[in-house]
Amino acid sequence: MAFELIKTGTPGLDQVLKGGLRKNSCILVTGAPGTGKTLMALQFIYYGAKDYNENGIFITTEESLEVLHQSGKNLGMDIQSMVSKGKIFIVQKPIATLKGGLSSIKGLMESIKEYNIKRVALDSLIFFEYLYPRFDGNKMEFRRQVLIFMQQMRKAGVTFLVVSERSITDFDRLEYDMMDFVFEGIIMLSRIRKGSYFERVVTVAKMRGQDHSLDVYPLTIGHDGLKVLFDQTPFSLVEKEEGSGFK
Ligand SMILES: Nc1ncnc2c1ncn2[C@@H]1O[C@H](COP(=O)(O)OP(=O)(O)OP(=O)(O)O)[C@@H](O)[C@H]1O
Ligand SMILES: [Mg+2]
Repeated sequence: MAFELIKTGTPGLDQVLKGGLRKNSCILVTGAPGTGKTLMALQFIYYGAKDYNENGIFITTEESLEVLHQSGKNLGMDIQSMVSKGKIFIVQKPIATLKGGLSSIKGLMESIKEYNIKRVALDSLIFFEYLYPRFDGNKMEFRRQVLIFMQQMRKAGVTFLVVSERSITDFDRLEYDMMDFVFEGIIMLSRIRKGSYFERVVTVAKMRGQDHSLDVYPLTIGHDGLKVLFDQTPFSLVEKEEGSGFK
């Protein structure tokens, strides 16, 4: 049976995914600091609501609402207007207030029903990490909580996009994280250095049950937002390959 694909809200990324993200799946967007993870998640929610009529919730543990609205504005997104129309909800969960349990998850599930939410983005996985620290012997509990949350999202019929940080994003020496095996799809963002210049890149590491490109593509951030240049090879990689024969 063919499954339904939904648009990511990031131009070019749907072509890399050969259509888009599988509806009702759980996707991880991971990468180094400043590579565009928050913007990708924000575009997923904003354009999902604006262009595809899928209402969304953006949960942030990372940024203040002011910063989100402002960076949205700088990149062509009028988040406030979508919020006013009741199509987007931004939930701020500062880490300091997280301790004490996930009682608000119940509220989240109710909101999903009430407001006909089809997309949820969580920025970032640290949301769970603070509740269930992985490095004090509580690894399995952490994983269990994430899995329970994902199950709830699936049951509610939403497509769930989660951001996570990672320190090693050199595609040649990646170390996989336990959480990488839990999600149906992984989109990896990185930077490649070429001399004194860094280039943003993206690759789809996995997308279960779906054909997708395995190539590395350039990613740009400009006044119209985050874009994948799906018809180009990263400049930094072309040079690397050509140069390697002469060493
Ligand atoms: N208006 C803009 N024009 C060009 N580039 C921008 C603009 N706004 C943000 N950027 C770039 O986007 C980057 C931030 O992207 P984003 O916040 O999505 O990264 P991130 O991967 O979520 O980072 P972190 O891991 O720190 O949360 C900035 O470091 C900056 O380089
Ligand atoms: Mg971020």
